[in-house]
Amino acid sequence: MNPTTFVLFGATGDLAKRKIYPALYHLYIHGKLPKSFAVIGLGRKELTDETFRAHVKQSLHEFYRLDVKEDDTLRSFLDLFGFNILHIDRLEHFVQLKERVESWENGAGGAANRLFYLSVAPNFFGTIATQIEQSGLGSVTGWKRLIIEKPFGHDLASARELNSQLSQAFTEDEIYRIDHYLGKSMVQRLEAFKQANPVIQALWTSRYIANVQITADETVGVEDRAGYYDQAGAIRDMFQNHMMQLLMMLSIHVPNTNATAEDIRLKKKNVLEALEPLARQDVHTRIVRGQYAAGAIQGKPVQGYTSEPGISPDSKNDTFIAAKLNIDNYYWRGVPFYIRTGKRLKSKNTRIVVEFKEPLRSSAAAEDTSVPNLLVFEIGPNEGITLQLNTKDPNHKGEFKPVHIDMFPDRIEGQEAYETLIDDALNGDSTFFVHWDEVDLSWQWVQPILEAFEAGEVPLYPYAAGSHGPEAANALLAQDGFHWWFDEPSEHEAANAEEGRKPVEHVTAS
Ligand code: BG6
Repeated sequence: MNPTTFVLFGATGDLAKRKIYPALYHLYIHGKLPKSFAVIGLGRKELTDETFRAHVKQSLHEFYRLDVKEDDTLRSFLDLFGFNILHIDRLEHFVQLKERVESWENGAGGAANRLFYLSVAPNFFGTIATQIEQSGLGSVTGWKRLIIEKPFGHDLASARELNSQLSQAFTEDEIYRIDHYLGKSMVQRLEAFKQANPVIQALWTSRYIANVQITADETVGVEDRAGYYDQAGAIRDMFQNHMMQLLMMLSIHVPNTNATAEDIRLKKKNVLEALEPLARQDVHTRIVRGQYAAGAIQGKPVQGYTSEPGISPDSKNDTFIAAKLNIDNYYWRGVPFYIRTGKRLKSKNTRIVVEFKEPLRSSAAAEDTSVPNLLVFEIGPNEGITLQLNTKDPNHKGEFKPVHIDMFPDRIEGQEAYETLIDDALNGDSTFFVHWDEVDLSWQWVQPILEAFEAGEVPLYPYAAGSHGPEAANALLAQDGFHWWFDEPSEHEAANAEEGRKPVEHVTAS
């Protein structure tokens, strides 16, 4: 690859320290960075190159998951780094940056590439893009690319506004939008798993599938992000981006194993276009909204959302969303997709469960002990694929028992989302990045929900921390004859049961 400069805005921030430097170091020690490579960190504080390198080194010691040896490799890695002060409203700082980049490029020789990484709050994206354009920093002899991270807007209008600002300096092909869920190795393998297995492809239709459940449960609360989270809620923080991406990745049908980024992008777009629109007056029938109240996580009492530091006691923000969606296309018509995500739930778990139909089940026969076939994708923190089938129980004549076939695909040794994604961006592979069409269409689908929330048309159910969310989320499935899989009784429900109150019913698959 030609000489490449990695221009990092927000170089002293949290994301850079926790994710970007460790990822660059990982790519460096595995020989995956271009031979001629420089990183220019930018920030508002005046730092010398030396101080900046010390900061990067410190971040590696703290956040790289393996031991970082003080050796020549580390020293030569740190030599790649330099620092420039930059106030985003000062054009002269961009001009100075350009001069520094150019002088490095002249020394390196050949057509040179620039990768701009905006690790800063999204309200700065527009100004930075304009300044890159006006200072001439955007005129390159090789390629230029831009990496940004969610949130891509706060609603449909602001997302469009942001995109039009970015488009002044970058074409769509040059923009790499990170959704870190697309960097998770199981999400990437999900695609390959479907493409490479005709058996799975053959089953991937409404003829065999009864419903799909996509859940991302978290045990953490709002933590120290009150300012951001209280404006975003689960709907913007998780649903509009990560959950919609999981929905697309699960439901696309890519016909062959050589699919390009463009093929996948088109299929994802088709899925969003086929989503049955949700009118504002129907939001309350398809969306369950919740907010955590006090409870216990793993035996430790925790406070409710409105008692968290920085959250107003009368906040009406959602920390939980459950939704039912329908994809109205040839493959999925009639198959409900249920999505659930929330903070302060019983366990940390992201998974997709595909529940198959049971055409032979004798529903009238009480003695039919068979359970549905399930295909379960564990995305995090554990990874794996499990198939649930029925077998005759040799110990109980006439009864069935479920067997689980576990597949644990090998993890790519040490590969993490940011390593994969930065590597892909350097190589121009946009398969696991978010295209503008996806941002726009997902906001279009979510917009009536935001409006209905804003107008107070959807109840906000409290749920105890450590539970599975409000009971209404169970009812959403129960009305279709389904239930969430793998929900063990929460501490809250167990405590209720002990006190003689009726617990919420859950079916647990063993
Ligand atoms: C982030 C959200 O995008 O994803 C956080 O802003 C959330 O609120 C996080 O906790 C979850 O990511 P993961 O990888 O831990 O499932």
